[in-house]
Amino acid sequence: MPGRTWELCLLLLLGLGSQEALPPPCESQIYCHGELLHQVQMAKLYQDDKHFVDMPLSTTPDRVLQSFDELSKAHNHSIPTQHLQVFLAKYFQDVGQELQAWTPEDWKDSPQFLQKISDAKLRAWAGQLHQLWKKLGKKMKPEVLSHPEQFSLIYSAHPFIVPGGRFLEFYYWDSYWVMEGLLLSEMAQTVKGMLQNFLDLVKTYGHIPNGGRVYYLQRSQPPLLTLMMDRYLSHTNDTAFLQENIETLALELDFWTKNRSVSVSLGENTYVLNRYYVPYGGPRPESYSKDVELADTLPEGDRETLWAELKAGAESGWDFSSRWLTGDPNPNLLSSIRTSKLVPVDLNAFLCQAEELMSSFYARLGNDAQAEKYRTLREQRLATLSAVLWDEESGAWFDYDLDTGKKNKEFYPSNLTPLWAGCFSDSGVADKALKYLEDSHILTYQHGIPTSLQKTGQQWDFPNAWAPLQDVVIRGLAKSPSPQAQEVAFQLAQNWIRTNFDVYSQKSAMYEKYDISNGGQPGGGGEYEVQEGFGWTNGVVLMLLDRYGDRLTSGAQLAFLEPHCLLAALLLNFLLSLLPR
Ligand SMILES: *[C@@H]1O[C@H](CO)[C@@H](O)[C@H](O)[C@H]1NC(C)=O
Ligand SMILES: *[C@@H]1O[C@H](CO)[C@@H](O)[C@H](O)[C@H]1NC(C)=O
Ligand SMILES: *[C@@H]1O[C@H](CO)[C@@H](O)[C@H](O)[C@H]1NC(C)=O
Repeated sequence: MPGRTWELCLLLLLGLGSQEALPPPCESQIYCHGELLHQVQMAKLYQDDKHFVDMPLSTTPDRVLQSFDELSKAHNHSIPTQHLQVFLAKYFQDVGQELQAWTPEDWKDSPQFLQKISDAKLRAWAGQLHQLWKKLGKKMKPEVLSHPEQFSLIYSAHPFIVPGGRFLEFYYWDSYWVMEGLLLSEMAQTVKGMLQNFLDLVKTYGHIPNGGRVYYLQRSQPPLLTLMMDRYLSHTNDTAFLQENIETLALELDFWTKNRSVSVSLGENTYVLNRYYVPYGGPRPESYSKDVELADTLPEGDRETLWAELKAGAESGWDFSSRWLTGDPNPNLLSSIRTSKLVPVDLNAFLCQAEELMSSFYARLGNDAQAEKYRTLREQRLATLSAVLWDEESGAWFDYDLDTGKKNKEFYPSNLTPLWAGCFSDSGVADKALKYLEDSHILTYQHGIPTSLQKTGQQWDFPNAWAPLQDVVIRGLAKSPSPQAQEVAFQLAQNWIRTNFDVYSQKSAMYEKYDISNGGQPGGGGEYEVQEGFGWTNGVVLMLLDRYGDRLTSGAQLAFLEPHCLLAALLLNFLLSLLPR
C-alpha cells in the first residue's frame, strides 16, 4: 500500500520537523502551565516570580480558571494590570497562609555539644543558632490535606525545618545538613518526622521532588535520603524504622537508576553513570518570566531544550553555575546551559555512598542477597568513577562531558565529593586532593572555599561560597590519615567559622551563601536576593563547632594558610614521605 506508506512517512517528517512539546512540570493549569500562569507571571506584579506560585487559592481551581477565562476573553487575552490585580485579590490568598509556626517538641535548652565549644563567643553563637530551629520550624494547616488542589504546597504529615527566607517549604538536599544540625541539637524526633515526609513522597511519586511544591514535582535534587537515614540511625539505633522503610529507600535509588542513567563508552568498555536530567518542558513556574525572556534570545526550536536544561540545573542543586555552561559559543551565557550533557562527580559520589549504606543496612537486617547486590553496585561504581571521572595527573575527579568526551578541568569543590563520600579505593587520594587544592590556589582564600574560580554572575560561581561545599572539602580532607590534610581541614573550618561569625556579628543573621571576595559578606548574584535563615548554613556551622570546638576561635586569623607556610608544610611532608618506614 504505497499511499499508506507515504502518509506514514509524511507524518514522521512532520513529527521530526516540529519539536515535540515536553510534558509540563505538573498538571496544574494554575501553578505549572497555561494561560493564567503566563499572563500573571509576565505582568511581573511581584518582585520574585516565586511569589505568585506560592499563593493559595481562595476557591476551587475550576472556579478560578473559569473566571479567568471570562476575564481573559473580555480583554482579548491580555488582561490589563489593574484587572489582573483585582482578579488575584479575589481568587488568591497571601503567601504563607498554609503554614503555621511550629516549635519542635524535642527542642531543649542546652544540648550537650554546646559544652564542647571552648571559645565563649562561639559557644554563645552556637546557642543562638540552636534557638533558630524554633524560627525555622513549620507545620501545615489541615486545609492542605483536606483541599490539596487549592495549594501549590505538597502536603506533609509531619512538621519540618525550612531553609528560611523565600524558601518556606522543605528542600531535599538542604535537609541533609539541617538534619546534621538537628541531631547535634538532640532533636532526633524532628529528624524522624522529616525522614517520614521524604519516605512518603517516594511512596507517592517514586522519587523526592526538589522541594515541597507541585511545580518542583518532576525534578529531584542531589540524592541524600539514604545518608539521612544513616545519620538518624547512628543517633538512635532505630532499627525498626529502618526495617519498615528499607524498601522505600531502595525505590528512591531505583528512580536514579531508571530515570537518570547514561552510558559512557571509553575504548572497549561501556560504563553506566548518572546525571541530572529533567525531560519536562515549559518555563520553571517559580522563575517563569526569567525563563521566558531567556528563551526569547533563542530560536523557537531550541526553547523547550533550554527549559529542560534549566530544570536539570535546578535538580543538581547548583542553579546556576559555570559547571553547566561549559561549551560553545558563549560559555558565560545562561542560555547555553547543557546540564544533562555532563556526568557530575558529586551525583555519582552520592549514589556510590548510598549503595554502600544500603549494603550495610541490608546486612544489618540480615538480608544477605540484597546486601550483596548493593555491594556489587558499589564496586562497579568505584571502578567507573576511577575509569571515567578520576584524573591521576591532577589528583581529583572531574565532571565528564558526554559531547566532547573530555573532563571539565575547572575547579569546583564538588570535584572532591568522592573523598567526602568515602568513595575511593586508593588511600593516597586525600593527599593528592590536598595537592590539587594547592595547585588550584584554593587555600589562599581566607574566607571560605569558592564555588568555582569563574566569575559569571551566577550564584554557584566565584565569589560565592556555600556551606555544603565547605563541608564536602573539610570532611573529605579530614578523612585522610595524613596530619597535613587534617590540619588543612581544620584551617578551612576555622576560616569558614570566622566568616560566618563575623557576618553574624554585624547583621545578626545567617545566610544561604557568602561572598568571599571582600572580607566575607552575604553572597549575591543569581536570580533572587540573598536569603536569611538559613538551614544548611546553620547545620554546617554546628557540625564544625562540634568537631573542632576545642580549637576554633572567634578571634584573629592564624598564619598557617599563608602560601609560604603551607608550601613549607607540604615540602616537609614530602621529605618525610621519602624516609624509610
Ligand atoms: C486581539 O489581539 C490580537 C493579537 O494580539 C489582534 O490581532 C486582534 O486584532 C485583537 N482583537 C481585538 C478585537 O482587539
Ligand atoms: C521515570 O521513568 C518512568 C518510566 O519511563 C516514567 O513513567 C516516570 O514518569 C519517570 N519519572 C520522572 C519523575 O520523570
Ligand atoms: C547503638 O548500638 C550500638 C551497638 O549495638 C552501640 O555501640 C551504640 O552505642 C548505640 N548507639 C546509641 C545512640 O544508642
